[in-house]
Formats: sequence, C-alpha cells, structure tokens
Amino acid sequence: MLSRAPDGEAFLGGRSLASILDEVGAATPAYVYDLGAMATEARELVDSFGAHAQLVAFAVKANSAGAVVRTLARAGCGAEVGSLAELEVARISGIEADRMLLSGMGKSVAAIDAAIGAGARGILAIQVDSIDELERIAARSRALGRTARVALRVNPAIRADTHQAIATGHEDAKFGILRADLPRAYAAIRAQGEALTLVGLGAHVGSQLVRTDAYFDTADALLTLVHEFERGGARLELIDFGGGFGIDYGDGCFVRPRDFVAGVLARTIAAGLEGRTVVVEPGRSLVGAHGCLVASVVATKVVSGRRWAVLDAGMNDLLRPALYGARHRIEPLGPRVARRGGEPGAQLWRVVGPVCESSDEFGEYELDEPLPARVLIRDVGAYGFAMASNYNGRGLPTEIFLHECGKLSVSRAGDANAWIAQRLAT
Ligand code: LLP
Repeated sequence: MLSRAPDGEAFLGGRSLASILDEVGAATPAYVYDLGAMATEARELVDSFGAHAQLVAFAVKANSAGAVVRTLARAGCGAEVGSLAELEVARISGIEADRMLLSGMGKSVAAIDAAIGAGARGILAIQVDSIDELERIAARSRALGRTARVALRVNPAIRADTHQAIATGHEDAKFGILRADLPRAYAAIRAQGEALTLVGLGAHVGSQLVRTDAYFDTADALLTLVHEFERGGARLELIDFGGGFGIDYGDGCFVRPRDFVAGVLARTIAAGLEGRTVVVEPGRSLVGAHGCLVASVVATKVVSGRRWAVLDAGMNDLLRPALYGARHRIEPLGPRVARRGGEPGAQLWRVVGPVCESSDEFGEYELDEPLPARVLIRDVGAYGFAMASNYNGRGLPTEIFLHECGKLSVSRAGDANAWIAQRLAT
C-alpha cells in the first residue's frame, strides 16, 4: 500500500521508498513491489468464496517474478499460464499441476506436452482456443499415453467496455470458440476417445473491467452452455469465468474483485450448478496497485511555453502509456521541498522518457517547481516489468521486492551489459 508521511515522503508497505532504494543500493529506474499487500489482496479474494469450491488462478503474465508468484501461491492462488516458460515459473514457485490452467492461442508443442505430462493427471485444464487445437492436443496425448484435460474457451460475442486492445470476448476478437461452433467442438472431443476429456467451459471477456455487465453477461452465457453440454452427456467439473477485474488508476473507477466473484457465485448457485468449481483468473487486480516505478528526472526543457520533464524511465520500462494511452499517476518521491519566496510552485509538465520515439510519453502531470529529483509512477505492479524490453539498448529495470517478513530482495536481470554481450554474440 502506498502512503505519505506528513512531510509528503512516499512510503510503500510502511517503508520509506527512498530508504528502500538506498538500502539495496538500487539506481533508478526501479520497480518496487509490496508483496504483503499482494498476499492480502489474494487472501481476501480466496476467502470471499466462503466454502464454495474455487480456484483463484493468478494470471502469471501480469507479473511473472518468482517472488510474486511464490507469495500468491502461499496465499492460496493457482495459476493461469500462457506459455511453457510461465508454466515453469508457476510450477517451480510451488503451484501444483492441478491448480494450473494453460490458455492462449498458438500453444507450442512443448507447452502442451508439459501441461499434459505434469503431475499425476496433467494440469487442471488446457483451455482450448479452436477446434484445430483440439486435434493437436489429442495427438500429443496419444504420443504421451495420457488423457488431456481440456476446457473450451468460449467466445461469447460480448464486447466489454474497455480499451479495444484488451477486449477479448467480441465476435471479431481472435480468441475462443464461437457459440455456434461449440457442438462441433464437443463432437471433435468425443471423436478423440481416451485422448481428451472435457472438464469445463471458460471465457475471458476482457481486461481492466470497471463495470460488471459484460462479465456477468458472459457468466450467464457460460452457465446456459454448461446446462446444454450436460444435457448432451458431458459432466463438467469447472466453470472458468476469466480475469479482467479492473483497478483504480486514479479516476476512482473500479469494482471490487470480490463483487465480481459474489455475482458469479450467486449466478452459479441460481443455475443449480453449485457443485462445480468456480475458477477466476485475476492478474492485474492482485498485483497492479502494489508496485510502483521510481525514476529520476534527468533533464528539463522549456520550449515556447511547453514544459518537458525527461525521466530515466521510458516506454521500454513501462509500455502501457505508449501502447494504450494509459495514465499512471506520477508524483514526487518526496518529501516536499519548502519553496522559497518567488518560486512559481506547481506547473504542468509533459513527462517523457529518453527513448527515441514521440510516443515515449507518460502524459501531462502537475509537479512542483523546482522539479523533484525522483518521482514515482503508480500502479505498475501488473503489465509493467512484464512488458519491458531492451529497446534502444536499454537495460531492463531493477526490481525490488518488499517481502511480507520485511526483508528486501533485488533482481537486476538483463542490464545494459547483458544486452551488449547478447547483441555482439550474433
Ligand atoms: N485470463 C486470460 C485468458 C487472459 O488473457 C488474461 C489477460 C487474464 C486472465 C488476466 O486478466 P487481468 O485480470 O489481468 O485483467 N497488457 C494489458 C493487459 C493484457 C491482458 C491480457 N490477458 C494491459 O497492460 O492492460
């Protein structure tokens, strides 16, 4: 949890952010994560299910740091993974095979093999994205002499009210199987005999949902489909309502994840399907608010009335503003500097990074003049480091983890020297 001391200094998880950076000797840009707050978030969501059979499968793509995944595993989460590498991170972080789901389109043979081969009976479910994929998975189960547990990812043809890049449940999205094609998918599963067993249905209608309507409409569609499948002879163990719970990026707009859960639980029970495991796949809502990016102001430029503040963090460190026009509040690390008489006070600054692109801009923010030496960029615990790159020969940012016990750990993977060595090794 981010908080402020009376003098304005920023604290994360009860510790001064500046002192955290000093203690580990970290330069900027550096992500800092509050693992205790992530664990609390996860425990609250798991507890909100009461006694109902559930799986809160953390979407590892949001933040794949081992420290984060281990923390969430201990807090009661399973994992939703999208690749072999994410599956390995989840497995080695302590998530058991039967608490894992593999989703995504174009799954590699290696990922499918790992999913089928994991544990005593493979992972909980491979979320199948197309009828073609069913055949590919069945071929691998036969090769491995096992039965693959599959769930069909339904495209409910529902457009969620979110950024178009992260709405995934409408008819022209690339994901999932349209309702009209489900009977054919079911016939294809049965035609594969022992190679495949259908264990559930699922959907993921979009990300950063700040209203419940699309999520609940999707839930209603899934529950109707479960009945249809069961009338057709299937016996489903799980219903996966997907992730997508939005967080408050500063405009006050969000719905508590437990309210999404309460809604789907009530609908599942009303549909007479309370015996099924209810799965949700939150990524952002468990981790997003509990990470910030600390950056230094390295230059300023005032040109024809425009004020630019240049940070040492850029779009390679945090892509969301450039890619989606996302706003992440930028604030001084503090404490506030007492202003001398005659100084102009707060000004609007266009805050940019050092990368050679005009889209390397975080937006316009009000900052005190003189500018603080360091700022923090808020709510970057999800899809922050996860989407970072080495563009422009820039090293990946440092990551600092504040553990539940108060210990700090640091990761400096992929610095600029690693990049130089790799580029020269070609
Ligand atoms: N399940 C599936 C199948 C998904 O594709 C995703 C996210 C999730 C769960 C988790 O969604 P969440 O609870 O985190 O919203 N890079 C974008 C977000 C992309 C989301 C991709 N899929 C961003 O920075 O907003």
